[in-house]
Amino acid sequence: MQKAQCDNTSVSGAPRVDRRVWGDEDEIVAAAIDYARRRIMRAPDQVTGARPAADLALAAGTAITPWGIGGAAALKVFDRVLAPATRAQNGATNLAYIPAAPTRAALAFDAVTGAANIFAGTWEAGAGAIHAENEALAWLTLLLGWPSTAAGCFVSGGTMGNLSALITARAAAAASRTRPTDGWKIVCADSAHSSIRSAAQAMDVEVVTAPVDQRGHLTGGAVDAVLESMTGVFAVVATAGTTNAGLIDDLDGIAEACERHQVWLHVDGAYGGAGLAAPSVRHLYSGIERADSFIVDPHKWLFAPYDCCALLYRDPAAARAAHSQSAHYLDALDRDLHNPADLALHLSRRARGLPLWFSLAVHGTERYSRAVEQTLTTSRLVADAIRASDCLRLTIEPELSVVLFERPGWGPQDYASWSARAAETGAMLCVPTQWNGATVLRMAFVNPDTRASDVIDTLP
Ligand SMILES: Cc1ncc(COP(=O)(O)O)c(C=O)c1O
Repeated sequence: MQKAQCDNTSVSGAPRVDRRVWGDEDEIVAAAIDYARRRIMRAPDQVTGARPAADLALAAGTAITPWGIGGAAALKVFDRVLAPATRAQNGATNLAYIPAAPTRAALAFDAVTGAANIFAGTWEAGAGAIHAENEALAWLTLLLGWPSTAAGCFVSGGTMGNLSALITARAAAAASRTRPTDGWKIVCADSAHSSIRSAAQAMDVEVVTAPVDQRGHLTGGAVDAVLESMTGVFAVVATAGTTNAGLIDDLDGIAEACERHQVWLHVDGAYGGAGLAAPSVRHLYSGIERADSFIVDPHKWLFAPYDCCALLYRDPAAARAAHSQSAHYLDALDRDLHNPADLALHLSRRARGLPLWFSLAVHGTERYSRAVEQTLTTSRLVADAIRASDCLRLTIEPELSVVLFERPGWGPQDYASWSARAAETGAMLCVPTQWNGATVLRMAFVNPDTRASDVIDTLP
């Protein structure tokens, strides 16, 4: 092993590294990998965060010069200036937006994935990696209750997953129906993620908003009424875990309406899809087994690093028809093989599902289920404390791990100041949102290391 590092031959007899152009990079490779190891193993620093651009530019100085500043200097700038100007997404009391909580195994394997530099767009280039990604997707397929013929791929995030699924849905509709004179339409609730509107805009289709029930769910009845009233709808988007409140739409009822009207059902589980692994809430997802496409972001609540969205289709043939790129330089590809590039809006891709695969392989799916349950338990304990508090009130009963609460008598400025103070001290990241037109506080739990007592002690 020592010999391999010194004379640059590999113990396996692999080819020698050619140093003619880039020179000797041994030292910087070792330093970068050692930095990565230390970074993975240390607890995140919760007081790091953004700085004004001018301030940051001054502190960072110029790194890219005609002759380079060298590895040690570049790494130092990253460590001392750039990294501290980012937020620790996996801090245990980072409860803002949707945070992250990758396992150390997943983070380490992300580094391995980078080192392997696999082109995972096509089977012929990335078979081994794609096989592993498919094993992780098969676990999700099982959780969904879908047939094993379902297939998919990993894309960068929920936004790209939703867009790719909706492109497939429209292509499927266009293959069997003529384009409606007033254009194609997507039906969803107002509570659907902003990426649905963004996808609709990119696709030049209309979004029709169906009303939600009193508790904020899109229901089968509401979808049915909209589908009865118009033509040209090619997809209904239901959300399994709304971003703002963690609510799961009435998937069974919506699936019923979609089947009756023969409209594609896409379920956005970017955040909440992870709850499929938790027995205590699995019943809330009833009906998901009837969906046509589904996404979940393992970088949210399935303990994988950025950027990772699992996109699944019940019938991958529809996705292939929509997404396969064709050109003479691609003629040599075998389209009968599982090419992830054929299933979403991408061609080149890293094997971003590998860190999830590795983490699942290391820890097992049972431990994953327990970890998701652990975050649910934490959120329930915090909700109980709010319920029991004299000065706080739960805004709505939580369904998953998002907790909305308020302090009667407080206005937007009070919430903002409290939130800023808690962030400054590193005690907790918890930012306000709006619910029914009023400012409230919002906490999203995805980290099994979060202690309920730490959160409860910091509540306003
Ligand atoms: C329900 C839902 N869908 C889609 C997205 C978009 O995901 P991404 O940020 O990975 O693009 C989010 C992000 O929070 C989300 O909560």
